[in-house]
Amino acid sequence: MIRARITGTGSYVPEKVLTNFDLEKIIDTSDEWIRTRTGIRERHVAADHENTSDLATNAAKRALEMAGVNADEIDQIIVGTITGDYPWPATACVVQANLGAVNASAFDVSAACSGFLFALSCAVDRIEAGHSKKALVIGAEILTRIMNWEDRNTCMLFGDAAGAVVIEAREGENGILSTHLYTDGTQLELLYQPGFGTKLLPSAELLESKAHTLHMQGNEVFKVAVRSMAEVAKIALKENSMSVEDIDLFIPHQANIRILHATAKRIGLKDDQVFINVDRYGNTSGATIPLAMDEANRAGLIKEGDILLLDAFGGGFTWAAALLRW
Ligand code: UT7
Repeated sequence: MIRARITGTGSYVPEKVLTNFDLEKIIDTSDEWIRTRTGIRERHVAADHENTSDLATNAAKRALEMAGVNADEIDQIIVGTITGDYPWPATACVVQANLGAVNASAFDVSAACSGFLFALSCAVDRIEAGHSKKALVIGAEILTRIMNWEDRNTCMLFGDAAGAVVIEAREGENGILSTHLYTDGTQLELLYQPGFGTKLLPSAELLESKAHTLHMQGNEVFKVAVRSMAEVAKIALKENSMSVEDIDLFIPHQANIRILHATAKRIGLKDDQVFINVDRYGNTSGATIPLAMDEANRAGLIKEGDILLLDAFGGGFTWAAALLRW
């Protein structure tokens, strides 16, 4: 059987770090409040000259290098992002040009914090169908550019980053075993960016009202996130006839440490099965999972044959899981 196997991981975070103490100078908050309510200590912020495609390109280069694959061997590039360089064309097109990946089709997936897993699922399906041999799947965001820096409920949560994987068609038992995607569009206003799509075109009034920034009802999102991530994780295990003890590493979307602990508890995971780095990066939306996977991989925490469960929840609402044998 042909499976899509991850052969390289890479990530990139901008140099500038914004700590909770820095935020204390901008908004009415404290390091103590942010740490205890979210687990976040600091987040990275892109420099003015950096675009989402630059973060994505840097992460992709590192993944290609690890995989030992040249850019011109890649036949598809999919970027999960909600903060692309342009409304259109896709940031993946910019990445394709930056890399010189002349043989790759390229498009973006907009599924907010689930964007990487939705993108991964598309790439895996094309590989399993025999339409692709080597793909780049990237999650990349510059969320700090759509923050309302006067809203203490949201601006302390998010950061900028990119993560990438190279996946290749391989015979055998190792690779991505299944992906599971879900959506509920009925509650989208609990977490969204109202402007400036075609519904709300830019105007001075709307800019003044911060319609172009992220809007979120955090505590509502919190409850749905925990429930949905736990449910989809259980579905992934059941469909592969596995139990929670089979999981070597659980890599969840890094939104808030309390969400991660509550989700892991519902699934029945032990603390040492869960990878956490939200303390250093905050919520980087579509980038959290590939960034975490790359950190875990480079730290030697993943061995051949390990079972990994990836799990995400985000705006839309969208939620997703992927189960894989490394
Ligand atoms: O990636 C998926 C998308 N996002 C998420 O998963 C985020 C989900 N939600 C959350 O992480 C949490 O709901 C938050 C961290 C956003 C908020 O934590 P919470 O425990 O749900 O707090 P809350 O919204 O119930 O607010 C409690 C209080 C409020 O004060 P009042 O109205 O009770 O007086 C907030 O104004 O905490 C206040 N507050 C703050 N205080 C100090 C909110 N943000 C801050 C802050 N510093 N930064």
